[in-house]
Order: sequence, then C-alpha cells, then structure tokens
Amino acid sequence: MTDLIPALRTPTAPEGTGLVKGGMQVSRVDGRAKVTGQARYAAEEQAPDLLYGVVVSGTIAKGRIKSLDLAAANAVPGVIDILHHEKRPKMRSWDIAYKDMTAPGGSPFRPFFSDRIFYSGQPVALIVARTFEAARYAAQLVKVEYEEEAHETNLLDTLDQAYKPRPMKAGFTPPSSKGDADKAFDEAPVKIESQFYHGVEHHNPMEMFATTVIRGDDGHLTIYDKTQSSQNSRWYVSHAFGLSKDKVTVRNPYVGGAFGSGLRPQYQLTLAVMAALHLKASVRVVLTRQQMFSFGHRPETWQKVSLAANQDGKLQAIKHEAIHETSRLEDYVEVVVNWSGQLYACDNIKLGYKLVAHDRHSPIDMRAPGAAHGVHALEVAMDELAYKLKIDPLEFRRINYANVNPLDDKPYSTKELHQCYDKGAARFGWDKRPLEPRSMQDGEELVGWGMATGQWDSLVMVARVSAVLHADGRLVVSSAATDIGTGTYTVMSMIAAEAMGLPLEKVTFQLGDSTLPMAPIEGGSSHVTTVGGGVHGACEKLQKTLIKMAKSMPDSPLAKARPMDIEFIDGAIRLRNRADVSLRLSDVLAAQGVERVEEKFFMTPQMLKQRKFTRAVHSAVFCEVRVNEKLGMVRVTRVVSAVAAGRIISGKTAHSQVTGAVVWGISQALHEESFTDHKLGRFMNHNYAEYHVAVNADIHDIDVIFAQEDDRIVSKQLGAKGVGEIGIVGVSAAISNAIFHATGKRLRSTPITPDKVL
Ligand code: MOS
Repeated sequence: MTDLIPALRTPTAPEGTGLVKGGMQVSRVDGRAKVTGQARYAAEEQAPDLLYGVVVSGTIAKGRIKSLDLAAANAVPGVIDILHHEKRPKMRSWDIAYKDMTAPGGSPFRPFFSDRIFYSGQPVALIVARTFEAARYAAQLVKVEYEEEAHETNLLDTLDQAYKPRPMKAGFTPPSSKGDADKAFDEAPVKIESQFYHGVEHHNPMEMFATTVIRGDDGHLTIYDKTQSSQNSRWYVSHAFGLSKDKVTVRNPYVGGAFGSGLRPQYQLTLAVMAALHLKASVRVVLTRQQMFSFGHRPETWQKVSLAANQDGKLQAIKHEAIHETSRLEDYVEVVVNWSGQLYACDNIKLGYKLVAHDRHSPIDMRAPGAAHGVHALEVAMDELAYKLKIDPLEFRRINYANVNPLDDKPYSTKELHQCYDKGAARFGWDKRPLEPRSMQDGEELVGWGMATGQWDSLVMVARVSAVLHADGRLVVSSAATDIGTGTYTVMSMIAAEAMGLPLEKVTFQLGDSTLPMAPIEGGSSHVTTVGGGVHGACEKLQKTLIKMAKSMPDSPLAKARPMDIEFIDGAIRLRNRADVSLRLSDVLAAQGVERVEEKFFMTPQMLKQRKFTRAVHSAVFCEVRVNEKLGMVRVTRVVSAVAAGRIISGKTAHSQVTGAVVWGISQALHEESFTDHKLGRFMNHNYAEYHVAVNADIHDIDVIFAQEDDRIVSKQLGAKGVGEIGIVGVSAAISNAIFHATGKRLRSTPITPDKVL
C-alpha cells in the first residue's frame, strides 16, 4: 500500500510539461520547490517544543577527557541538559552495532561512547537548550580538561608505516597484477617515473549536516536527517540504540548536496537521537561549517607511477603504487590504483596499495573515490611519457587503447571511449595543437592545451520499487531512494512517464523515507541503473496487469490484440498507432471497480551475464589554460568533457552532473586543500574563507558531450550506465597537462596553487 506521504512534499512536474522521452532536456521536477523555498531540508522541519542541540568539539587529537566543567554552561538560562560520555542514554556496547551499511572494516567511531579522544574536533558534549542561541552560547562556556597523548597526522613522515589492508576485514578486492612489470620497465627504451601528492579535501556541500528528531507521544521517532540513504540512517539508529524498526522512521526528501559525505550517518544524527531519547523530546542538531571538517574527507594520498614504452609508443610496463591515510579505528579503502590496470593495453602491470593509520577521523568516499586521485597520477604520467616519445598525447592514448580489460582479458560490456576521443577532440579543435610546450601565447599569458582519459565503475545494486496507478490517471512510483541534487526525482519520473506513456505531470516519484520499498544508498553513480531499472520493471508489470484488465472488459476493442501490438499513450491504452481503438486507463480501472492498481518490482543485476564483462564509464577531457607566469595564476578558459555512460535518460540533469563535476575538477586542480597543523593534529582552514573552492570568476566555457552508447549488460531495462562520478575523473590531470603545455613546468600534485606555478 505505497502511496503519497504528505509530509515528504514530493514534487511533481508542472501542468503542461507533457510527454517525455529518454534523453530529453526536462527541467528538474523539484526545481520549483527548491527555488521557492517550499522544499524543506533536515534543519527546517518543525515540531512543537523543539529543543536545540549544539555540539562542543574537542581540541586535542589523541588522549582522554579528564573532566568536563559544565557549571557555567548549565547556568545559562534556557539550557535544559548537557549530554556527554558519562551522561547519555543506554547504547549498545558492541562496536558492530555501530556499523552502518557502508562502514569499512574495523570499529566505527562511537560518539560519547567513552572518554577516549580519537581525533581533533571529536564531539565531547552536546548542550540542549530551549533556543539555539542559548545552546550556542553555553557551548562556549564548557571547559574540558584532557590527558593528552602523542598523535600522528603526517602522511609523508609515516610512509614507512604503510600496511596492506586485509581484504577480508576491509571488504575489498586487492588490485591484481600481471606479467613482470619490473623486468619490462628495466628493459624498455623510453620510461618515466613520477611521484604525486594530494592533500586532504573536504566535501563542503552547501547544506550543513543536520538532524531533526520529532518524537511522537507514543515514543516513535520521525527523524529528518541529511543523508544519502534514509534506510542506512534508520538501520544505524535501530542498531546503535536497540530500537526496533517500527519505532524509527528516517526521512530525507531534500538533500542539499553531499558528494559522498552522507554515505554514512554522521555524529549529529547519533547525538540528536541521544538527546531525544534521554529527554523524551523533539531535538534538532545542526553542525557548523567548521564542524563539517570534523568527519570524513578525501584522504591525503601519496603515489608513484612508472611507465615504460618502446619507441613506437606501445606501453611495455605500468607500475602504480598508492598510500593514503586512514584512521586508527577503520581501514577506509578506495583502491586508488585500480584504474591503472584497466585503462591501457599492456602486458606487464604491477599495482600496489597501502594504508597508514593516523589520529584522524576515517576518510569517507568523495566523488569518484580513488579514481579522482589515481587516474590523475596515471594520466599525468601518460602525458609525461608522450612528451618523451614526442607523440601527441591523444595519439599516444589511441596507440594503447584497451579493447579488453588488460588484467583479465574480459571484454567491456560497452566502451565508446573512441567516440569520446573523436568527438571531444573535434569539438575542442585538438588537431591545431602544437606539440612543443611554450608555443602559444596571448598577451601576458601563456596558453596550453591538455587532455586526459577518465574511467569510473558502472554499478548496479538491488532495489524494490512500487508503482500505483490511480483511477484519476495519476501514477505514484515509490522507492526509498535519495536525491542529493543529482536529479533523482526528475530521472525516475521521466522513466515512469515514458514507460507508461503518461504526461510527466501525471507522474510522481516518491523517495526519501525509510518505510518506502528498499533502495540502495545513493552512491557510486548507481541510482539510475538500480532504482531506474526498478521503476521501469514496475511499470512493465503494471502494463501487463492493465492489458489483462482491458482485454477482460465487456466488448473490449482490445480483446484479440497481441501484447506487442498494444501501446500506452497519453493516459490511454490502444492498438499501436490506432487512436480509434483505444481505452482510457481511468475507464479500465472503473470497469474493474478499483480505485488503484499497484505493482511491485524487485530489481537485481544480471549477475551471470555481468560477470563475463568489465563494466565501466569512460570519458575524455580536453582543456585550455592560460598561465600568467609573473603572478603564478592559472585560468582554465575552456573545457570539453566527452562522456560515454550508456544511454542518457535525463538529458538536462545528466549534463548538469558532468558540468558540476568539471567545476569541481577545476576546483580540485587549482584550489582545494585542507591543511593540517601537525603540532595540533588539526585542520587549520576549516571554513569557506580559507578552504578555497572555485567561484564563478574561475569558471569559463564548459562543454559536455555524450557519446552514443546503449549498455544492456549493465542495464537490461534502460541501457544506462550512470553519470555522477565520471565527470570529475581526469579533469585535474587534463589541467595539469595543459599547464605543462603552456609553461614546460611539470606540476604533479594538486592543488596547483600560484606558489607552485611560480
Ligand atoms: Mo558518491 S562518493 O558514491 O556519494
């Protein structure tokens, strides 16, 4: 009985939108709700007698809390209570109870669990007050005494402590190797060896992490949480606090960006639930921008890439090793080097991957985790080798094009990377590129053109979807999916509308509630293949049922029609192209005497088919930079990103996804880094003033092209492969390569700030 939940305020396309088709440019169905402020985010939900929680953040990186002096804070008018490790509701003692659905191997961080401090910025107390202002003021008055222990937060100082994560424990497949890369490298005539360093990056979504817990009179908790999965947060709360499934509902109908930071429940959820249970009240906890730097991040990473080729430019050896930090508690893995075994044909490949444990919070996936840094290193190294060979960088990649996965010889389910190279190069005008660095200039600025290849995995998970057709012709499709701004509402509505031949405004896709049919976490660019496939499947079942109903009507004009000759169009079911042999869907339901027809679909990947193929999304990124050598300033004046990601369903939001990712790639290449004061073990630039992101003035022409591709191995229902993450992969490498072309200076580490250019 899945139908519309009013509190979710699920958006529907405006009247007059009409019929849609895959690939069409349709404006977001949630756009109007968002820009008019009708869309409510986690921190905006209201409840009677709502209490406000403000988190007190710890200031040491490692040690124990000796004592908390709460007297002054408690004396602030309006303060109700202060929670901390010695004053909190009962929670499960086993660490396994705190493992959310995407937790890596190890023992998750448990807020307020004990007096132990694991990282700087760790929450040590929660002030709960009648007003936010009182709580915020009181939070400043808490005095904490610590017993400090020596900490370690410096990656480059501790590379010798790197260890191989245990695959069984951390739940990952270690990178494989083939041939004898060391020998082939030593014997090859042309080679390069380069090291790369990437600092920590933080996600910085626009919406702060926030949770509003609304406690019902019966003790039921309705929780509005900023998360990439309502069901993951529901699962976590149930397990950590020992609350049965029916006692907790989590909602996330609107999420203001997340980029991976919401793949796991964050501590404001734990603390808000703690306070709600302890005080038997409704509670809201919102983190500050500074506190957004006190949980997961893209890890600080060191890499070494060694490439060798023969004189014709055929790769003889690829060696790639990576080491990045994790916390002492968990083995966070993002196997940085994987893509280096898949992108280019080569007989000798050696990949290595290690971690170093630091006194930090565990890193967490950030858009294209692993690939964003790993492919950067490989693609800059490829550029270096191309120059050494005096071969055009694009031509060098074509020479080494992998028609099968080099590591296991499996064919690709689809791979239209050639199209990306061709179309991207043509749009960019790559054929006019001079080979020599420092050969283009415009006034004060040196001009350079660079390119890189990108790859990301193509994932399908499992999901359940319900589709309900109402007698008034409205279709409601539901799944506990998430829209973190990526366009889920829009693309799912489009899939259902096209399948059922309904105008878009007659279709509502409902997401963002843990009680809806099971959906995976919105991550890994898998929502369209997974939930979208499920939407299509549910609609197909609904059609079969409606055809049966239509045929059984007295004197049915469709009684003898074969299913393949029947089509659904504009709220009717009819003989293909025969407007005169047609029945309104509302009449079909009326004839059965029913108000609604519901069908459910269980979406699973085609495992047996998929296993025979390598499944990946590809891209080619071309860019132009202008470098002022006197000032060290770099401007990225033109980017063409050509992406092969299967069938594109929602033309506009897919385009926006890649455009946004290119913006982020520019930001990653030139601006973003969270600096650590290693003496304190703390991030120093934890605000928007000092953590630089690309702004409008940094962004010029961005051109996005999609290759023609249709992948029925990854997605039997839709032919789609997913477009979220791929957009960022390769961008920073293309920029780095363009800077070399402009200046002759090879800059391997990001961000490429003016001090490095000078
Ligand atoms: Mo994305 S890093 O899979 O949310």
